[in-house]
Parts: sequence; C-alpha cells; structure tokens
Amino acid sequence: MHVAIIMDGNGRWAKRFGWPRLAGHKQGAESVRRVIRHAPLAGIDTLTLYAFSSDNWKRPQEEISGLMRLLAHFIEREVPECCANGVRLEFIGRRDRLPATLVPAMEAAERQTATGRRVRVRIAIDYSSRDMLLASMRPGICREELSQKLGPDVDLLIRTGGEKRLSDFLLWECAYAEFHFTPVSWPDFTESDLEGAVAEFRRRERRFGEVLDPSAA
Ligand code: IPE
Ligand code: IPE
Ligand code: MG
Repeated sequence: MHVAIIMDGNGRWAKRFGWPRLAGHKQGAESVRRVIRHAPLAGIDTLTLYAFSSDNWKRPQEEISGLMRLLAHFIEREVPECCANGVRLEFIGRRDRLPATLVPAMEAAERQTATGRRVRVRIAIDYSSRDMLLASMRPGICREELSQKLGPDVDLLIRTGGEKRLSDFLLWECAYAEFHFTPVSWPDFTESDLEGAVAEFRRRERRFGEVLDPSAA
C-alpha cells in the first residue's frame, strides 16, 4: 500500500503558541520520525512525504534556510535508525537548486539504506509534480513507461492542516487515490491518526470506473 502525505500546518501550529514558524517545522520533524517508524505496522510498504515544494522557494529566505538545515539534521539523525529498521530512504524532486552540502548527504542516505526492505520512504524536496511530468515526457510515451519513471500509484493521499488541495503533488500518481483531509496540524499528527486514516481507507470501495456487482442492478 502506497500512502502519500502532504505534511501541512506547521506554521499555523507554531503561531498558535506565538512561536516562529521554524518551531513548527522542528516539531514536524518529530511527526516524520513517528510516521516512518509506524508505517510498516500500519501495512504501508511505500510512504511518500511532501517536505518542500518547488513553490516553497517563494518563502522568506530565513524560513528556507532553516528548513534546509532541518532536512540536513534529519538525514544525519535518521539514517542509522533507518538502516536498523529496514527503511529504504529515497528523495524525489530537483537537486540542482539545493544547498551544495545537502545533496551529498541525500545521496549517502540513499546508498546506506538501499538494502532496506520493510518500507520504502520517499521524501519530496524541491518537488513539483508538473515539472516531474514535463521532465519525463517524450513523444509517444505510454502510461506504463511514464508510471515507471515517476513511481507507483498512490492508494491513500493524506493532507494535514485543514486545506483540501494537492499543491502540485503527485498529480499523475493520484489518478485513483483515495483522499483523507484532516484539520490536525502536522506537528500534532500521531500514529493513531495514521491508523485512523488507513482504517477509513480500508472501508472505502474503490471501483476504478467499474460496476463491481452488475448482477445487483
Ligand atoms: C508545511 O507547513 C511545511 C512546508 C510547506 C515546508 P507550512 O509551513 O505550510 O505551514 P502552514 O500551512 O503555513 O501552517
Ligand atoms: C504544500 O504545502 C507543500 C508541503 C507541505 C511541503 P504548502 O503550504 O506550501 O501549500 P499551499 O501554499 O497551502 O498550497
Ligand atoms: Mg502550508
């Protein structure tokens, strides 16, 4: 099962306490840890996390550099635990605009966790689904080839923080995804919120355009 999460609401979470937005991102990193650790227990084999969109470059420089520092810190801290727990880390998105020190850390993390088999975790940084689609297109390309290039279809898309939009995330891959929008801010998102979203997903009937029981008509 492939779950994708738009981890939103960090800034508003911090504002509630009168704290700088970066405090929300820092607390959000704890939710990332929790969710990665819990994912295999919830039956998730692929987890894609939206950490920084290509449109997020429009934010104040101070917030951007804080986020980049947090990402570097996160990788440094998490890689040993990922190795120990069978977590395979990958990064999707552009790498040519990221801080020069972050890219080698990402590459090393991918190498060091490459044998992880319990759960595949893809972190989207400087990611734009439209740009990914444009970069993958060629004349005559077929659905299978494009899906091969982009990655697996999403089963369940979760967005925290109350907004109900995709914000340029996994547009192709979400063609038949089930959506779960929650007002819970990302820093407050727990293992039980994840379990709840997955349980609700399992109760849904996915039809993919078919009539599932024609005899009932
Ligand atoms: C999501 O939280 C994290 C990133 C986009 C990097 P936000 O920073 O968007 O928080 P809100 O939506 O302003 O509360
Ligand atoms: C989407 O959140 C990007 C991430 C969570 C990384 P945004 O907060 O940037 O999206 P908008 O601006 O509300 O659409
Ligand atoms: Mg936001």
